[in-house]
Amino acid sequence: MQVERMAAPLGGIVTGLDVRDVDEEAWQQLNAWFCEFHVLVFPGQDLTPADQVAFAERWGPTIPFPYGGLPDHPNLIELRNRGKRQDINQHWHSDMTYNPEPPKLTMLYALEAPAHGGETAFANQALAYDELSSGMRRVIDELSALHSAEGLARVYGEDPQAAPRAEHPVVRTHDETGARSLYVCKAFTTRFKDWTREESKWLLNFLFEHGVRPEFQARHQWRARDLVMWDNRCLLHYAVHDHGDDPRLIHRCQVEGPVPA
Ligand SMILES: [Fe+2]
Repeated sequence: MQVERMAAPLGGIVTGLDVRDVDEEAWQQLNAWFCEFHVLVFPGQDLTPADQVAFAERWGPTIPFPYGGLPDHPNLIELRNRGKRQDINQHWHSDMTYNPEPPKLTMLYALEAPAHGGETAFANQALAYDELSSGMRRVIDELSALHSAEGLARVYGEDPQAAPRAEHPVVRTHDETGARSLYVCKAFTTRFKDWTREESKWLLNFLFEHGVRPEFQARHQWRARDLVMWDNRCLLHYAVHDHGDDPRLIHRCQVEGPVPA
């Protein structure tokens, strides 16, 4: 198997591998590449839902999703194009940061992809942190932030007050590489701990914008049978909805992660 860099800020494309057949040595190599590139793309895979979950579970237990799981595979959900207005992933985020232990990685397998558009955009938050001044890094190194699913609750017509919430450091340390990354996102971060929303707004808005500067970003154009995994510990992502009603069908699973620290 080989890896080829996908873009300057992040991403590796792995070829010469059937992910249904990965021995321990190959897995060690894949995990090293995952830590280096943060996104791995495996084109041309032939996977059943069970195959996908089995591969994901090489990295740890997968997480059941409260609704929308496949009947025989509650840890796998189907993402189907239901039109732009029903797209809830069109915002920069790291998955489920409103939970105390958000998933460390997300793995998507495309069954159907539009000829153009419907890309997933990623932004490297370790690069974003490194590019801040030492003065700004010192300030945010000390801060924690509150993350809430209130925005999602509104979309689903549920009570925003009852939405899950969690508190995380604004800068997290990757448990495997030790790299420091910005860990706030526009979708879920509402304010800094011990700051009001109003006080938090100016600095959060700066960090939201800084974190997704073009030089930290790369995009993946989906092809059917692509398997893609990304590291939620050091990336933000955004599902771009520019493909109208063109079919796009993806199976998603997520692997448990540590408490961000
Ligand atoms: Fe997401």
